[in-house]
Amino acid sequence: MKGITVADTITIIDDRTGKKVTVPVTDGVFASSALRELDPNLRMYDPAFLSTAACASSITYLDGDEGILRYRGYPIEQLAEHSTFLEVAYLLLNGELPNTAQLDKWSYDVTHHTMIHENMRKRFVDGFHYDAHPMGMFISAVAALGTFYNSAKRIFDEDALNKQILRLVAKVPTIAAMTYRFSKGLPFVLPNNSMNYAQNFLNMMYRIGDDYRVDPTLARAMDVLFILHADHEQNCGTTTMRVVASANADPYSSVAAAAAALYGPLHGGANEAVVRMLSEIGNVNNVPAFIKKVKDGDAKLMGFGHRVYKNFDPRATIIKKTAYEVFEVTGKNPLLDIALELEKVALNDEYFISRKLYPNVDFYSGLIYQALGFPVEMFTVLFAIPRTVGWLAHMSELLKDKEQKISRPRQWYTGVDERLYVPIAKR
Ligand code: CMC
Repeated sequence: MKGITVADTITIIDDRTGKKVTVPVTDGVFASSALRELDPNLRMYDPAFLSTAACASSITYLDGDEGILRYRGYPIEQLAEHSTFLEVAYLLLNGELPNTAQLDKWSYDVTHHTMIHENMRKRFVDGFHYDAHPMGMFISAVAALGTFYNSAKRIFDEDALNKQILRLVAKVPTIAAMTYRFSKGLPFVLPNNSMNYAQNFLNMMYRIGDDYRVDPTLARAMDVLFILHADHEQNCGTTTMRVVASANADPYSSVAAAAAALYGPLHGGANEAVVRMLSEIGNVNNVPAFIKKVKDGDAKLMGFGHRVYKNFDPRATIIKKTAYEVFEVTGKNPLLDIALELEKVALNDEYFISRKLYPNVDFYSGLIYQALGFPVEMFTVLFAIPRTVGWLAHMSELLKDKEQKISRPRQWYTGVDERLYVPIAKR
């Protein structure tokens, strides 16, 4: 507003007492300690943390209204086009892009920590039931991996913590491929040190004898998908990571907890749900009937909507382009036509327009994963591999943040008041 100076403070008045407090607003944030100043017993009721900034973070910037996503200041579009996943991982974990020597060392170190202890597979993974969900196996295997490293608990020893970070980033693709090979009854493929991160992962997934050749376009698509999924500020999984790590749990347990949150169908499980939904719709002619079901509240359009993006999800735009590059090699995914029709109808329908529901990252990622040969059960595992980097970047940041303590929200108690115990015979 031209000519009008707006105060960058907020004044809160407690009408019960007439007490008031004025506090600065910085970047749209004010410290909730202002409320404690008014009344130490005052609580802000904020289910699902819609208005709560639980931490200060310098890792990822997200503007949902403008559709902006940046890692350490770099736009996601530029990283997806010019960078590699390991370079982005370095950036997220260290705050700056690596120079050549730093990237060479980081890539060498990651490549040379990809093996997992033989007992992990023989004693632990082989114990799962034959049809265990790969994501359930992934979560458990990451937690179990921590028991192989006694130094895992030394989280305030920077060298020890960085060693665990390196191990986790290096080993999650190996664990992911192992869960797949186990579920198919296929022999485990050892990591190949001559391949890059994405190539090695695809090789561990699909090699049978000497027949498999990693297609460079598909490996690059995999790498781009890893970049897009590496971090997304304070989402459900990352919040879980921060809460668990705030109790000073080790990085393996914290990553396992975050992965458990990611497993949920409203979070990282959505891409699996999208493919199941498209398969159920089965034919473009059934799209209008499905949209009606959604509008009647009898179904959810999976892969649409986002807590933060209310304009468009920039990752979805990049993924749609990547999908076409993959289909050039693999042939078109037959579900693509249904997805395109659903997107077209939804984007022109008042129900979705008024609620600002747009395709999110999961709407097209599942179609790419399917074209790459991954079974739907593996989709969330594919999300967890790169997100491990984001989780660990947040853990490192949290442990250095002097303002953080163990997470311990308060509640609004709405249960019954004190009452006397009634013996069972009298109930
Ligand atoms: N299909 C139909 N209606 C929807 C959808 C959807 N996918 N998403 C939201 N709505 C409606 C919702 O019913 C509500 O309508 P009304 O105001 O009439 O009650 C309105 O839109 C606002 O929704 P909300 O539930 O308040 O939004 P939210 O911010 O709590 O939920 C969400 C965000 C992602 C959980 C939700 O949009 C959703 O369930 N989407 C489908 C699952 C999905 O694709 N998840 C992946 C998210 S992206 C990956 C990640 O970051 O994890």
